[in-house]
Amino acid sequence: MMPDKLKSALVIGATGLVGRALLMKIAKAPGYGRIVALSRRPIEDCPGNVDNIVLDFDHLADHAAVFNVDCFFSCLGTTRKQAGSIEAQRVVDYDYQRHAAELARAAGVKHLLLVSSSGADAKSASAYMKMKGELELAVHALNFDKLSILQPSLLVGKREHHRLGESLGESALNWLNALGILKRYRPIAGSQVADALLYLVENQTGASEVYRLDEIFTLT
Ligand SMILES: NC(=O)c1ccc[n+]([C@@H]2O[C@H](COP(=O)([O-])OP(=O)(O)OC[C@H]3O[C@@H](n4cnc5c(N)ncnc54)[C@H](OP(=O)(O)O)[C@@H]3O)[C@@H](O)[C@H]2O)c1
Repeated sequence: MMPDKLKSALVIGATGLVGRALLMKIAKAPGYGRIVALSRRPIEDCPGNVDNIVLDFDHLADHAAVFNVDCFFSCLGTTRKQAGSIEAQRVVDYDYQRHAAELARAAGVKHLLLVSSSGADAKSASAYMKMKGELELAVHALNFDKLSILQPSLLVGKREHHRLGESLGESALNWLNALGILKRYRPIAGSQVADALLYLVENQTGASEVYRLDEIFTLT
């Protein structure tokens, strides 16, 4: 049976591990009508029912009108290595996502779903954890009707570019987990995080919720 009203969705980060898995699932889900993905390069094999707008994220405001959707999924991110410096990483992980969330709020988005990170903490000594924590605070302050913040640990799945550090981290974590150590940091598949995001659109009852790794595993 078709739902009464089809939802509209906007995804940023849809060429990435979580964002791409999410986009493919939304494109097949019966509950969605208009689906928009903003990316800096064309999405490979983009589903026919997705409007892929290619843009420069320095000029997001030029596209403010497309933020007029029901659910906004923010899955953008980079690594210090890919970005070239911690400052450049912050532009992607903090500035772009904060700006996008502000545009979404101004356009009347009801539900923001943000993929953050375990350990996110605005007071952290780690620049990465600090930027993630600051972003969480910034989006919280925007007062969306609904806010879902997911805090996964190491994300695993097939990536376009191999990340040696993450592969080594995954092996080490799997080994430690097998010994019963560091279980709260066990790796999670990007597609499982995508499933959790879709689940929350339908099932989150609270207005503003933060989901830690253990909880994300249960959101299906
Ligand atoms: N990787 C992990 O183990 C891990 C762990 C915990 C939390 N997280 C967080 O979870 C979120 C999703 O992670 P992920 O691994 O799915 O991310 P990902 O695969 O690295 O994808 C990141 C997305 O951001 C886009 N992006 C990067 N730099 C950009 C720029 N300068 N301008 C526009 N777009 C840009 C990428 O586009 P291109 O494809 O064009 O580069 C891609 O769509 C991120 O916020 C990440 O920090 C990741």
